Amino acid sequence: MSDNMERDELVAAARRAMENSYSPYSRFRVGAALRFADGSIVTGTNIENASYGLALCAETVAIAKAMDDGHRGGLEEIAVIGDTAAPVTPCGRCRQVLSELAQLGDTDPVVWCAGEEEVMETRLSALLPHCFGPASLG
Ligand code: THU
Repeated sequence: MSDNMERDELVAAARRAMENSYSPYSRFRVGAALRFADGSIVTGTNIENASYGLALCAETVAIAKAMDDGHRGGLEEIAVIGDTAAPVTPCGRCRQVLSELAQLGDTDPVVWCAGEEEVMETRLSALLPHCFGPASLG
């Protein structure tokens, strides 16, 4: 599969996840999709709460689902999309949460940050340099 087909497939999975966004307070819908070395794709969407500060980001929901499925590494690719024109990049907390699973498998996932009009390619290591992780605990 070419890079672009893989990218398009993962962004499409994130976009489908975004359709289930529960975001009545911000009205900002986000979808995330994770691709693993075994080919599996796990998605998540943002889930808000009447107690505003309890909102769960799409990426964190996807990581929780993946770890509940048993994934402990192999995170190769990440797509994040918002229903904005410009690409959405993961918030700081999500970068840290994504990084834990990446570090468990010693990967540096490609991150596709998508909006409706543009997709930006980066790496988790570029979004979160000098990261804290399991090895930092000694
Ligand atoms: N949000 C995400 O789902 N992921 C991010 O990386 C940034 C923010 C959500 C949280 C909240 O539901 C809404 O976007 C507005 O901040």
